[in-house]
Amino acid sequence: MERPSPTTFMTGATGLLGHFVLRELLGQGRRIIAMLRPPLSDSRLRLHRLMRQIHVDLDRYVEQGQLRLVEGALPDKLPDGDWGPTDDILSCAASLQLFANGNEEPHRTNVVGTERLLEWADRHGVGRIHAVSTAYVCGSHTESVGEVIHRPQPEFKTEYERSKWIAETRLAEWGGRGDHVLTITRPSFLVRDSQTGYTSQFGGFYQLARMVSILKDQYASGNNGDATYVPLRIPGRPNDLQNFVPVDFASRMITEIVLDESLHGRIYHLTDPAPPTNDDVKRCLEDYFNIHGGYFIDPSRTNGDHSEAEALLWEAYEVITPRVTHNPVFRQDNTRGVMDAVGIEFPALSRDRFFTLLDFAVARRWGLRADRSYA
Ligand SMILES: NC(=O)c1ccc[n+]([C@@H]2O[C@H](COP(=O)([O-])OP(=O)(O)OC[C@H]3O[C@@H](n4cnc5c(N)ncnc54)[C@H](OP(=O)(O)O)[C@@H]3O)[C@@H](O)[C@H]2O)c1
Repeated sequence: MERPSPTTFMTGATGLLGHFVLRELLGQGRRIIAMLRPPLSDSRLRLHRLMRQIHVDLDRYVEQGQLRLVEGALPDKLPDGDWGPTDDILSCAASLQLFANGNEEPHRTNVVGTERLLEWADRHGVGRIHAVSTAYVCGSHTESVGEVIHRPQPEFKTEYERSKWIAETRLAEWGGRGDHVLTITRPSFLVRDSQTGYTSQFGGFYQLARMVSILKDQYASGNNGDATYVPLRIPGRPNDLQNFVPVDFASRMITEIVLDESLHGRIYHLTDPAPPTNDDVKRCLEDYFNIHGGYFIDPSRTNGDHSEAEALLWEAYEVITPRVTHNPVFRQDNTRGVMDAVGIEFPALSRDRFFTLLDFAVARRWGLRADRSYA
């Protein structure tokens, strides 16, 4: 009798990273059981729409039995597992809420959810887990951040990062028991598909770029032609690095790692090996929107009075400040090994790619029209 293809139980398929990874794994013939949040009918529809955006017909895979969609949620609504043996788990779901706000997130999904997932793995005899974490579990570490579990606990700027670090320690305890095999992938800040500019998520950097576009709209004046001059202070150091990782690179790397057992049992930094500086990003935004006049100041000097224009921009900084003022350098010994072996190049964020990213975001009105455009 023919052995069925290996089966992966996956969480987070409706996320930015999840739907790209799902496309890659299905394309490689992997059988996937994707857990979607209740109500299943709504999540299934969302997933269909997302996959259509990246040219995947989900029905085909469902009809062939290669994909099964099951209802569930972290931490306490995990499915029964009535689909037969599960070879491994791909844990891609997370709460990306940066700070606690009384709804128990991000701790509930990221920490308690991971604990329940590990119990589920033990109950169902699954000894192999691929967990997606974040490069920023490094917390306050800055130089030469290794592809290792960071101990002792670093200092963190956000609850999200802390929750992902705690989740990693829970995973590592599990990985150290019996013949369990744990693999962790750590993307930096995920952005759009490097070729098309497509994204389904418009947080973080996109919010900053959107504020720049609003500044452009508010302060545009016929006196300067198409150019707009707005003098304002930008809290940040010009030479600090911004680490963005295109979602297609991250998903391809995760897929290669999941499919090749010889790559399991390690930690991988899915990060830009030569990231742009704050000044590079500023110049790209200035040129794209044809807006000028901003200059960097030390972030600790932003507490006093501010102009109307500064207030607008700094609002976005609330969301991305942990990144703007944090400058870690990620080692990539394990990651480089996979890239060299498989022949994957990092799609560097060139000026053209930056403009494609912004073209897409502007066309989708920074995500405000995302749902309608899926229809
Ligand atoms: N985005 C980034 O910049 C970034 C950077 C580094 C690492 N990461 C990591 O990459 C992974 C994927 O992130 P992403 O950017 O794809 O996030 P995303 O677009 O926000 O998607 C999150 C996914 O997790 C699911 N989810 C959230 N809470 C859940 C719960 N309680 N139970 C079950 N499912 C739940 C969501 O389901 P719904 O669609 O139903 O909400 C969605 O499928 C996460 O582990 C994240 O920590 C992300």
